[in-house]
Parts: sequence; C-alpha cells; structure tokens
Amino acid sequence: MNIIMLGAPGAGKGTQAIRICDQYNIPQISTGDIFRNNIKNNTELGKKAKEYIDAGKLVPDSLVCDLVADRLNEDDCKNGFVLDGFPRTIGQADALEEILNKENKKIDYVLNVEVSDNDIVDRMSKRRMCPKCQATFSTITAPDGICKKCGTELIIRDDDKEETVLKRLETYHEQTEPLIDYYRNKGNLYDIDGSKKHDEVYASILSVISKNA
Ligand code: AP5
Ligand code: MG
Repeated sequence: MNIIMLGAPGAGKGTQAIRICDQYNIPQISTGDIFRNNIKNNTELGKKAKEYIDAGKLVPDSLVCDLVADRLNEDDCKNGFVLDGFPRTIGQADALEEILNKENKKIDYVLNVEVSDNDIVDRMSKRRMCPKCQATFSTITAPDGICKKCGTELIIRDDDKEETVLKRLETYHEQTEPLIDYYRNKGNLYDIDGSKKHDEVYASILSVISKNA
C-alpha cells in the first residue's frame, strides 16, 4: 500500500503517518525528518536545507527528488510506504510519478488532511519534539515535557516560531495546495477532516482505506 500524506504544516500528517505505518508495517518517509537529521549531523545537505527551512521556504526540488528516489529504492519499501511531506510541488509530484512508473508502482491513496490556518497556528505553538527519536507531542499530550518513547527532554522545533509558521502556511498555499487538484484529477485523493481528535482522524483514514481497498 503506497500512501501520500498531503496537508498544511502542522495538519497532523506525521502524527497519523506513524499510526498507519505501525498498523501496516510499512516505513514512514518524512522528508522533514530526513532534513532535520542532516541538520543535526551537520552534513552538507543539512547546511543547505537549514537556510530554507528556517526561512519557512521549501528546499529546492533538486535537493529533494533524488533523495526520495534513493529512499524508495530501499528494501523496506517493497510492500509499501507512507510519504509524509513529499511531494510538495507539482515538480516533485511529476518526479515521483516518473520514479514509480519505472518500478511499475502507483500511489493508492493521497490523504488530504484538512485543518484551518487558525487551528494550525494554535497547534504549532503547542508542539514539542523529541530531539533524540523525533517523536512529536504537544503541551497537551506530553504536559511534563518528557518524550514518552525514550524519556528525553522535549524541545520546540526551530521552525515553529509564529512568524516562521505564518511563512510556512503562505508557502503551503502557494506551492503545495495546487497538488490537491492535481491528485483529485487523477482520482486517488481522499479528504480527511484533520480538525477532529487524533483517534477520530485515524478512524476516518482507516475507513477510506477499507472502503477503497
Ligand atoms: P516537515 O517536517 O514536513 O514540516 P511540515 O509539513 O511543515 O509539517 P509538520 O511536520 O510541521 O506538521 P505535521 O503535518 O507532520 O503535523 P504533526 O503531526 O507534527 O518539513 C519541514 C520543512 O522541511 C519544510 O518547511 C520545508 O522547508 C522542508 N521540506 C520538507 N519536505 C520538503 C519537500 N518535499 N520539499 C521541499 N522542502 C521540504 O502535528 C502538529 C502538532 O499538532 C503536534 O503537536 C501534534 O501533537 C498536534 N496534533 C496532531 N494531530 C492533532 C489533532 N487531531 N488534534 C490536536 N492536535 C493534533
Ligand atoms: Mg511532520
């Protein structure tokens, strides 16, 4: 099963992607996590990506597409994958199609997680991330500020400052939102109301998967 999680920054793509991956035993491929790991390890890619991420802009397609192509070639993607945060531009969507065509693969579900901009700004102000295992929580789900998975003290992501969040939302509306029509025209896009509680959002996702399997 091959899935794309589409949605604004903070819509809950990562939160739901992990649940799908655990249940179906397929890998979560988050380009944002890959960039953050590279920044942490001070790699050349990390240095280049940080400039864009801190400004709330997208990392150029030329730095993203090959990286995803290589990742999709790994063994653990044979039975499926969840792409979380890729594609984010029409250019990336076209590149993905080319990558998958070569392998005779296709995307089964594009899950478009919808949340209003106001709710997103509120969620981002509450988000906390584990610097060690990258797990994501909020001040509500982890009020003690400690990672429930590995016990590390949680931090605020650098790009979760309000002015950067507003810039990321602008970037989303300009460059990523057009993908909704792109995939709707292909017939594999499913709208998910992401404003509901975690479990209700996940139930909607499972219902889409079971109805269209
Ligand atoms: P990335 O890490 O992908 O960031 P993003 O798309 O901005 O999305 P987030 O990870 O911020 O949000 P999410 O939708 O995963 O929400 P989450 O589950 O955490 O990318 C970061 C940057 O890298 C980009 O800005 C860009 O510069 C660059 N980049 C990455 N991919 C790229 C690409 N393909 N091309 C170019 N550049 C790229 O949830 C958010 C919060 O809400 C959490 O606190 C969570 O606990 C809470 N929450 C989740 N669900 C609910 C719910 N139902 N109710 C209440 N709270 C909830
Ligand atoms: Mg995420």
